[in-house]
Amino acid sequence: MDRRTFLDFLGKGIAMTALSPSILAANNSFFDSFQGIAPSDEDELKLAKGLSYDVLIKWEDPISKKDTFGFNNDYTAFLPFDPAKPDDGILWVNHEYVDPMFVSNYVGGDEKTKEQVQQEQYNVGGSILRIKKTAKGKWKVQKNDPINKRITGQTEIPFNWPHPIADKKVAMGTLANCSGGITPWGTILTCEENYDMFYGERNFKDGSLIEKRAFLGWHKHFDNPPEHYGWVVEVDPHTGAAKKQVALGRCAHECATVKELPDGRVVVYSGDDSVNECLYKFISSKPGSLSEGKLYVANVRLGLWASLDYEESPILQKKFKDQTEVLIRLREAAKLVGGTGLDRPEDIEIDPITGHVLVSLTNNTGTKNYYGSILKIVETDNDHTSLTFKPDKYLAGGVETGFACPDNMAFDTAGNLWFTSDMSGSLMHKEPYKEFKNNGLFLVPRSGPKAGQVMQIASAPSDAEMTGPFFSPDGKTLFLSVQHPGEYSKNLEELTSHWPDGGNSLPRSSVVTISGETLEAIQGM
Ligand code: FEO
Ligand code: CA
Ligand code: CA
Ligand code: CA
Repeated sequence: MDRRTFLDFLGKGIAMTALSPSILAANNSFFDSFQGIAPSDEDELKLAKGLSYDVLIKWEDPISKKDTFGFNNDYTAFLPFDPAKPDDGILWVNHEYVDPMFVSNYVGGDEKTKEQVQQEQYNVGGSILRIKKTAKGKWKVQKNDPINKRITGQTEIPFNWPHPIADKKVAMGTLANCSGGITPWGTILTCEENYDMFYGERNFKDGSLIEKRAFLGWHKHFDNPPEHYGWVVEVDPHTGAAKKQVALGRCAHECATVKELPDGRVVVYSGDDSVNECLYKFISSKPGSLSEGKLYVANVRLGLWASLDYEESPILQKKFKDQTEVLIRLREAAKLVGGTGLDRPEDIEIDPITGHVLVSLTNNTGTKNYYGSILKIVETDNDHTSLTFKPDKYLAGGVETGFACPDNMAFDTAGNLWFTSDMSGSLMHKEPYKEFKNNGLFLVPRSGPKAGQVMQIASAPSDAEMTGPFFSPDGKTLFLSVQHPGEYSKNLEELTSHWPDGGNSLPRSSVVTISGETLEAIQGM
């Protein structure tokens, strides 16, 4: 396989299992002398030498005559219109949640008004943007391009499922859009993660609403059922058409990582980002389908994928009335069939050289696993449809490795692993996280004297985390979200961050493009 073909595969977000390691793991002498950066507590996006960034778009920037860019941008995915012209295409960006103090001017006290809730609903979901690289090498959003659209907490989105969900065929909006994935057929998967903060959660024992989890209080003005959220949503970035893919189950989905099989079917891996929750995979039974197939949960102790198919499982039949109920109450079903609770499974990437499945396990402060790790799943015979696997620890966070709380990951065109850290703002700068300072972006070189070692490449502004790392198909640009700078500001007069505009400005989550000679040298260009 030549490099071009490999780039095309990466560009589609699809990893290979049978790639010859000799092509990509050639020794890269750049790493002989390259040093990363030290942890920083400055209110800046700091980068290693030979890298620079430009802000591509930030919260509230107009994208068309009627729409603006949403809040708390997370997952990014760049899809060129034509693989031969990688400098013009569509950028998808997730908008995860809102901080009412910034978005709706709600600071507590009186009840939030309906208008304030609507303002917040508009600011989650996703943005679709046409972007182009200019002659000067800078990426620009093509304002008012017909491609530009918003998907929000108010967009009507149907369920792709033969049965209604909580008596309805259509949901109002998508929300909690954390990480995601892309399909071989060029659509985006955007994942609804901590959905309970908006409309609460159902108490399935008595059918009541668990209101205390709805701390954004949207349920007070909109009685949308919580069952309508917690899904993987598929979006066509050319038209904005969206559907909730029920067959992938309902939980706090961090991401949906797609592997295309030789026969056109797919396997989709997804983690449920909560303490003691599980890792899932869906195996489609038809090419190009995310609705026909079977869902499995990982039993990491036994190294097997347990079926969540109602027809196959007397345990599930005893507890639930049908497959729809199994999918809605996925967490309960997963535990019944032997799913292993993990320490917050977040992003998942498939190693393009080995085919191994890497899963970030962020942390579990309850069990004193403060620093987290990256788990490696080796599917039997490297076959992603296999129902058995070998689990292994790939990398552990901690003082020796220099990072804590791994979250989003991406492989570059040379197969180096990049990942971000997500220490929560309430824990940052306190023991046992103190010495890691602000959240960071890290690199694990594939080859050379530092192969397998972790080096810090970037440091986030105050209170922020970096999310959604995504490489352009030519590897020359790293798209990256900088999310929630200044999140721990007590009020608008005492801001903890002024990134990116500086001075006395409001902090604004933004997407940046990172480039430079170091980015190319790291990939042996
Ligand atoms: Fe929204 Fe698990 O991060
Ligand atoms: Ca995340
Ligand atoms: Ca990723
Ligand atoms: Ca996270």
